[in-house]
Amino acid sequence: MSTILVTGGAGYIGSHTVLELLNAGHRVVVVDNLDNSSAESLRRVEALTGKTVEFHLLDLLDRGGLDLIFKRHRIDAVIHFAGLKAVGESTQQPLRYYHNNITGTLHLLEAMKAAGCKTLVFSSSATVYGDPERVPLTEGCALRTTNPYGATKLWIEGICRDLAKAESGWHILLLRYFNPVGAHESGRIGEDPQGIPNNLMPFIMQVAVGKREFLNIWGNDWATPDGTGVRDYIHVVDLAKGHLAALAKAPELPGATAINLGTGNGISVLDMWRAASAAVGRELPYRFAPRRPGDIAACYADASLAKNLLGWSAHYNVAQMCTDHWRWQQANPNGYSG
Ligand code: NAD
Ligand code: UD1
Repeated sequence: MSTILVTGGAGYIGSHTVLELLNAGHRVVVVDNLDNSSAESLRRVEALTGKTVEFHLLDLLDRGGLDLIFKRHRIDAVIHFAGLKAVGESTQQPLRYYHNNITGTLHLLEAMKAAGCKTLVFSSSATVYGDPERVPLTEGCALRTTNPYGATKLWIEGICRDLAKAESGWHILLLRYFNPVGAHESGRIGEDPQGIPNNLMPFIMQVAVGKREFLNIWGNDWATPDGTGVRDYIHVVDLAKGHLAALAKAPELPGATAINLGTGNGISVLDMWRAASAAVGRELPYRFAPRRPGDIAACYADASLAKNLLGWSAHYNVAQMCTDHWRWQQANPNGYSG
């Protein structure tokens, strides 16, 4: 049994990963400032697993507070989810994004170093590929970003690589997530976006519960099979399990290693709309609208490195992603605040 520190563990991907960690028999310590989440997610994880989470309300910008966490617990490894993630907001508030994501990560790495804990799994993103040079994307594809959010991911990857080059003993996995969707099959935990969702799945689901009138499909003239944008949607439970696989293999992977976590399947907006409509049981209203600024035609993973290095691959299909997301949305139309 290991003790895992999970930063941002109250959030969407974090809460699903905490649940899998507890079920696998790990001790879990969570730090989160609840900036974009609710402690209710962890209470529900405890109820689902029958196990307890050691929760600390803490901001990663509080360096002294982080040191105390490492003094209080003998942490074996860290999974680092904590960060701000809204692309549009990052273009309006770049300093807040750079400070929170990069300074927060520097504090974490310093505290880990001071405590002699050198195993880290970091939430990177397919956003580091920018407008992809080719699909499917392999980890060796060119890295470029077009917004401050993406830049923070690229910088943090670089910081981790430099650190692992400068000092021996680090085992850092930079997991590049594609598009996480879905929810735990219980319908008790899921994504709880604040305000109007930007991402496709939460928006469709709010149309389904009647909170939004119709889905705007941003462009039907992309160079894709049906003209709508293509992405690699991955069930959040598959993603969570990818973190456990990464932790298990980390001892064999010295240095810093970037790995895609996707299914390898390119799914269009219309494919997703069809699958969501089937899950909900009726045709959800949509209309075509002009392309969204900054969007790209297609982005999906070559998922073979994760399979080869971690022995992990995604299992859930798009129908299951939609069914599970819908179960959560239907039972919690107002997220955790309901
Ligand atoms: P989320 O917002 O639900 O979770 C992030 C958590 O971090 C929140 O609970 C928030 O309160 C916390 N947090 C933020 N700044 C903090 C700070 N300074 N100190 C302490 N806690 C802080 O987001 P998520 O969807 O679960 O994403 C988790 C990670 O995965 C993020 O780093 C995100 O950038 C990355 N990621 C997400 C997606 C996605 O589509 N959801 C895709 C690729 C990468
Ligand atoms: C967004 C982020 C990206 C992040 C990713 C995963 C932007 C510009 N990029 O990308 O950094 O890594 O989420 O969280 O925000 N769509 C519609 N109507 C909608 C919403 C989306 O047609 O109301 C379309 C989009 O045009 C796109 C697809 O659905 O083709 C997926 O969109 P979204 O869920 O926002 O994800 P990404 O564009 O991949």
